Amino acid sequence: MSFVKSKANKKICLLNGGGDCPGLNAVIRAATKTAILDHGWQIWGSEDSFDGFIQPQKMVPLTLASTRGILSRGGTILGTTNRGNPFKYPVKNKNGQLKSQDYSQQVIKRFKELALDALIVVGGDGTLSIGHHFFQAGLPIIGVPKTIDNDLLATEVSFGFNTAVQTATEAIDKVHTTAASHDRVMIVEVMGRNAGWIALEAGISGGVDIILIPEIPFHIKKIGDKLKQRTKAGRLSSIIVIAEGAAPLGEKPVYLKQKNTEAQPRLGGIGFAVGNMIQQRYQIDTRVVVLGHLQRGGSPTPFDRLLGTRFGMAAVKLVAQNSFGHMVSLQCGRIESVPMKKAIAHQRLVDPSGELVKTAKAIGISFGD
Ligand code: F6P
Repeated sequence: MSFVKSKANKKICLLNGGGDCPGLNAVIRAATKTAILDHGWQIWGSEDSFDGFIQPQKMVPLTLASTRGILSRGGTILGTTNRGNPFKYPVKNKNGQLKSQDYSQQVIKRFKELALDALIVVGGDGTLSIGHHFFQAGLPIIGVPKTIDNDLLATEVSFGFNTAVQTATEAIDKVHTTAASHDRVMIVEVMGRNAGWIALEAGISGGVDIILIPEIPFHIKKIGDKLKQRTKAGRLSSIIVIAEGAAPLGEKPVYLKQKNTEAQPRLGGIGFAVGNMIQQRYQIDTRVVVLGHLQRGGSPTPFDRLLGTRFGMAAVKLVAQNSFGHMVSLQCGRIESVPMKKAIAHQRLVDPSGELVKTAKAIGISFGD
């Protein structure tokens, strides 16, 4: 690899891209501490994803002082964006329209000018794919998986997911009491993109009656049957948790109306669609709560702080070993490394006949299938 130098005093950089996620600051703090305290290296942070390589003022030193007190903080001190792909960088033309331009060569040039020895890229599948493109172009890249959706196949779990499940479970707990007071059906729509992990784990933990996920297309009639069966048994309120990517059999997921400033289509609205169907078909009083970005905010759980710290430390160790093109991952509770190519190849989706779904079904939870 052309950029790899074998030297003791390395200068490395870390960036995070895509949506923010509880535990990002734990990664930044651990990588900074490990680089400085354990290796005596310099570490820099690129703000707003790769922007530090395009806008010089966004390349900032990471120090023990600048990363002090951030472990328990949500978000990321480096800022983030899901519109910062240097291969398709959005630039406004004379008419104010957004056009994409390829800034990748500028990133590589800036990397050399800064005399960096490695770049740690913390992200979900999108940002890791960009990191992998730069690795293929010759940059020494290390990946760290980040997503509340938990949809990266190459790691058992990513940090942020545990906090999102905790937030969703707390919301379901609260919704139970108001649903029972009013004899209503309450629908809680959660995030997760095309994976149903948050809905499944928060649904079981929150004791819901129906879980709807993208991996198991549902029938509205089956949902109605379950609600009627509960009413017959004297259970006058019910809770449904629905993943934003869930859809009835044969139908496509529901997307929000897109603004032209948005980089990619955003899922959302299936909770209200199902709520309306239940109300109209079965005349059952139904309310919908969309948890949205609440699931991405707030203080990370101890699990996510710990995993973020382990990932941040392990990423710096991979730099020390020159294991470029690899991503840290959790395998059977141990921190391992996997080729980034493998990490971005497949999504980790819920297995409809897996143990968690079987457990849920065995205790009477319906998936509307
Ligand atoms: O990937 C994380 C995630 O929170 C998804 O669950 C959700 O669909 C999406 O990001 C929302 O993205 P944005 O921050 O652009 O609204």
